[in-house]
Amino acid sequence: MTTTGQTVYIETYGCQMNVSDSELMLGKLAAEGYVPVDTPDEADVILVNTCAIRDHAEQRVIGRLGELKRNMRPGAIVGVTGCMAQRLGPVLLEKARHVSLVIGPDGYRALPQLVQRARDGERAVETSFDLEEHYEDFAPRRYDKVKAWIPVQRGCDYKCTYCIVPFTRGAERSRQLDDVVREATQAVADGILEVTLLGQTVNSYFDGSNDFGALLRAVGAVPGLRRLRFTSPHPNDFTDAVISAMAEVPAVCEHVHLPMQSGSTAVLKRMLRRYTREGYLECVARLRERIPGLALTTDIIVGFPGETDADFAETVSLVQEIGFDDAFTFKFSPRDGTPATKMPDEWQVPDDVAASRLATLIEVVRAGSRQRNLTLLGSRREVLVEKAARRGDLLQARSRDYKTVLLSGDESTIGQYVTVELTGTTGSTFTGSIVRDRAPLPIAT
Ligand code: SAH
Ligand code: SF4
Ligand code: F3S
Repeated sequence: MTTTGQTVYIETYGCQMNVSDSELMLGKLAAEGYVPVDTPDEADVILVNTCAIRDHAEQRVIGRLGELKRNMRPGAIVGVTGCMAQRLGPVLLEKARHVSLVIGPDGYRALPQLVQRARDGERAVETSFDLEEHYEDFAPRRYDKVKAWIPVQRGCDYKCTYCIVPFTRGAERSRQLDDVVREATQAVADGILEVTLLGQTVNSYFDGSNDFGALLRAVGAVPGLRRLRFTSPHPNDFTDAVISAMAEVPAVCEHVHLPMQSGSTAVLKRMLRRYTREGYLECVARLRERIPGLALTTDIIVGFPGETDADFAETVSLVQEIGFDDAFTFKFSPRDGTPATKMPDEWQVPDDVAASRLATLIEVVRAGSRQRNLTLLGSRREVLVEKAARRGDLLQARSRDYKTVLLSGDESTIGQYVTVELTGTTGSTFTGSIVRDRAPLPIAT
């Protein structure tokens, strides 16, 4: 059966790694003759690329699958891909009768054949790991015209005790440096202005001869690439070589997303994060020393088993001491099969306690970033105009230090670098006005 004219729709949940995987899947299917469409009701093939990081993420997907069942074309193929597919495998086929494909993150090479088998009436599950798989020969079909996500590493070897990722994505492996540079060069030739290198502990990258510092230098040397970012690094993998590369490569932006998880050494130990409160602080100090104007964002979990009021107070104080520009905060969600679920019952933090800690932490983070952002008013930044903002007729732009700036202007500015003065802040995002004169930029503090 020919695939010509068959339409495909992919909906993506979870992290940037999943967005990148969706782009690879879409590229693969487009190469086979499928036509990408923007809504599920136009699609012959619907793929839901899922996340398993917290229970809430999975519940959203279950709800969405129910909705799709009511709105999909008769005869459409529905596939579940990504981390939840890997975690649940055949169980998903039982849970959702209209799903006929379940494919984990290492199985996308077989996507066209699996879709064909589903069309022939089979219900197929592919969840084997393939430690060689980087989809090198796939041409990603990128959603964004301005920024590109480039995976440099798959899987994770850290095995933090709360985390499902090592189970859903398997062992850590890195792409060859030359392959990453080739993809970045192609992306820039296609008009991409900013590249973000992706990996679960991206700075532990090692391809057999090159470390992450070498990778930053090589990608940073791609002609025409003005902005280079990466996410997410692990504090223990910020070697001097990596920090030097960040400091010395002009394209590397002055922002690090550095997951902290907790400010209590006792909790960090139970999480198997492999650093202490002091170790984390030291990492921040080394980064700040070498990279002036560095913005820092983080991830924090509250309510991890055994977290006392005193432990939580240490998280709050570390957040205040460091002064993060922003933070993603989460309530601990037990994931089946992870070591955290086997911790003693008396360590469990009641839901109302975790909820109240979360609310407190969110306030602390907001107050800190508001205070910081107010001091930036009046300063100037080069921003890259990324897209039309969700609200009104404004444009959304981003600075090198990862501040979101809303501007007025017409859509022809999208994909351009402009200099703005920060004129207002909601506390988290800014409004700015374009500075037309070519006066030298004052150094922002
Ligand atoms: N690899 C990245 C994080 C990937 S998951 C890193 O190690 O930094 C993104 C964030 O989700 C984590 O940083 C953590 O804060 C949160 N998270 C992961 N598992 C969780 C769980 N079981 N419950 C609550 N939050 C979790
Ligand atoms: Fe999960 Fe830890 Fe690996 Fe991050 S480093 S993906 S939190 S196991
Ligand atoms: Fe979610 Fe998988 Fe990413 S669990 S956060 S989509 S690696």
